[in-house]
Formats: sequence, structure tokens, C-alpha cells
Amino acid sequence: MTTKSALYKNLLTDIENIIDDSVPTFTNLGNITALVKERFKWFWVGFYKVNGEELILDAFQGSPACVRIAKGKGVCGKSWKENKSFIVKDVSLFKGHIACNPNSKSEIVIPIFNKRKEVVYVLDIDHDKINAFNKEDEINLRLINKLILEIV
Ligand code: SME
Repeated sequence: MTTKSALYKNLLTDIENIIDDSVPTFTNLGNITALVKERFKWFWVGFYKVNGEELILDAFQGSPACVRIAKGKGVCGKSWKENKSFIVKDVSLFKGHIACNPNSKSEIVIPIFNKRKEVVYVLDIDHDKINAFNKEDEINLRLINKLILEIV
């Protein structure tokens, strides 16, 4: 059986190889969400982009989702406001969680920083089962930020 850490190792190499800095950031982020979703068969994988005082849905793979999230609202808005990752084991227990799709049961959100250490996107991943994400996911997904630092 392929372990999660082996999947992550290949994923990070694949992300590195797929990034093409001659095309728009949206194109690269789209390919990254496709790689992540396909690799882990997760329910929803997407980036929200910081735009003024709100997040706007950017490149994603999965069901249609909420298009605007205010700063500090939901898991994504909190991740942006507090500059930190959130692992939500059961979305029904997270105060203020925004349910874009009732099938989403657990979630992980990673803030993406630019070179000036400002949050410019959040990476949001949803699972249709509770308790799907742990520290190993957080550590590995945060590494994606290093790989995309040149294009965000
Ligand atoms: N659940 C998120 C909203 C985005 S969707 O999950 C795609 C939140 O609470 O911020």
C-alpha cells in the first residue's frame, strides 16, 4: 500500500515539475489543485485569493463553491486573518464554518504567503469524511507554499 508520505513526496516533485512561470498564476494553481485532488481523491481542493477585505474563489477542483468569504469569516477567513493553518476534524463543531456543500465533513486550510510574508491566497481542502486531516497533511501542504513562492 502506498503511504501518505510517499504520495506527498511524489506530489511535491510533480508540483515542482508542472509549474510554468511563463503562464498566468491561475493556470498553475489550476494544475496544482488537479494534481492534489487526483492524487488523494479528496472531495474538494481549491485556492481562495485575497482581494481587498475578502477572499474570492480562484482555481479549484470539485463541486461549485462559495465565491466570496469576508476576512475573519469561516475557516478560510480565519486562516487569512490569523495567518495560520486550521485542521477541522468535524466541520459541524467549528464555530462559524461556512458550508458550501453539505457533503464536506472535515477540512484543512493553509494560508499562502508571498515573499513579503503577506497572505495572498488560502488553500482549502475538504473531505467527505470526518477526521480526514492531521499534522502530516499540514506539514506537507505547507511545503506547497515554498514551491509557488515565485508565482504568487
Ligand atoms: N468551509 C469553508 C468555505 C469554503 S468551502 O469549504 C469550499 C470555510 O468555512 O471557510
